[in-house]
Amino acid sequence: MDKIIIRGGKSLSGVIPISGAKNAALPIMAASILTDQTLALSNVPHLADITTMANLLRPMGVEIGVGARVNDPHGGHVLELTAREISDTTAPYDLVRKMRASVFVLGPLLARCREAKVSLPGGCAIGARPVDLHCHGLEQMGAEIDLDGGYINAKAPGGLHGAKIVFPKVSVGATENLMMAATLAKGETQLINAAAEPEVVDLANCLNAMGADVEGAGTNIITIHGKPSLHGASYRIIPDRIETGTYAIAVAVTGGRVELIGARLDHISSLAETLGRAGVDVTETSEGLMISRMNGHIKGVDIMTEPFPGFPTDLQAQAMSLMTVAEGAAMITETIFENRFMHVPELARMGANITVHHGSALVRGVDRLRGAPVMATDLRASVSLVVAALAAEGETTISRVYHLDRGYERLEEKLAACGADIKRARESD
Ligand code: UD1
Repeated sequence: MDKIIIRGGKSLSGVIPISGAKNAALPIMAASILTDQTLALSNVPHLADITTMANLLRPMGVEIGVGARVNDPHGGHVLELTAREISDTTAPYDLVRKMRASVFVLGPLLARCREAKVSLPGGCAIGARPVDLHCHGLEQMGAEIDLDGGYINAKAPGGLHGAKIVFPKVSVGATENLMMAATLAKGETQLINAAAEPEVVDLANCLNAMGADVEGAGTNIITIHGKPSLHGASYRIIPDRIETGTYAIAVAVTGGRVELIGARLDHISSLAETLGRAGVDVTETSEGLMISRMNGHIKGVDIMTEPFPGFPTDLQAQAMSLMTVAEGAAMITETIFENRFMHVPELARMGANITVHHGSALVRGVDRLRGAPVMATDLRASVSLVVAALAAEGETTISRVYHLDRGYERLEEKLAACGADIKRARESD
């Protein structure tokens, strides 16, 4: 197992290319099930979660080839997925438990094959994370769903039909799963109180490139007119807004000036506003975004996570690391997931002053953090420790970094190129 060793206190300056969005690529890879033709995806990040999705799709009959990188100077990968025939409609427990996003195959399998058997994801580090909204929506579209032996057994012998589905709470994954299922259902489907995240819009754009009829993605009402079949397409994945936000916060905490190539301001407007109030400049450039804090302290700013366009839960841990060294205090409230403060005890080991009460954390800024051995607990919590370590005095060792490899491509390389003292070593070293 690898660990990451960081000697903090260096300001960052230079350029960081932003990779393709993991959370857009995962459902879009699952969308390849919807057609027997080739879906060619560019700007796919090279990450453990992408490999897990490929490992899930291959035994189902999806052929996956790695294509040439054409006109892609920032190193995104091209994946060609062809589901000529689906030979197996099961998503087994050992893959689903590794990655919750495996549940994205449920809607496409049911739409194309009229049956699917997908393991229930079970608990995960950041809370219960049920899939009831996915299942209820598919039932409204005519599926019969039975939970047995830890599996969702779904059948739609007569095919799926359109329905008006009102989500009782906003869910990115349920919106995406049902949107994919509806593209091949008979008639019109309306998703009301749908998620408006950029990854939902990216999926809708890809589905439309495949011949689907999806309208309204990016708003809270999405309308899909089902088609008898979809066709192949070439599609480029959007840049990763969470990677963008993570590096923006890293520059904010260390000070310095870094251009994030490919980053989009409209995808991180809420973070940009928070950073602005904290004393960090975020400006658009011809190639992306410039993040700079040349002098002055970070000011404490309250943050509440919300569905898009609100502050993303996937940046909450990193923002908390920033606020640990702010002038004054910041109240950070998590409204999307219960139990998403696992980074707090690790940050405390580095000298942070944080008090958690239910879904809120009161962060009182300290003068400086000090390096310490800490442990990664989930993807975003582990990168928040990297952010904290970049600012801390002395050396921090972060163990269990396999969490980081699920979501951050070439993290050490990108940060080292901007002057960070960061390296990877074997756990036993
Ligand atoms: C996606 C993202 C994840 C992000 C999250 C919220 C992917 C692969 N993952 O996760 O990184 O943190 O959006 O922006 O895109 N819920 C239910 N029942 C359901 C589904 C969800 O109660 O059937 C609840 C969840 O427990 C949570 C809330 O709804 O409290 C939002 O979850 P959701 O938006 O579905 O998150 P994911 O799609 O799993």
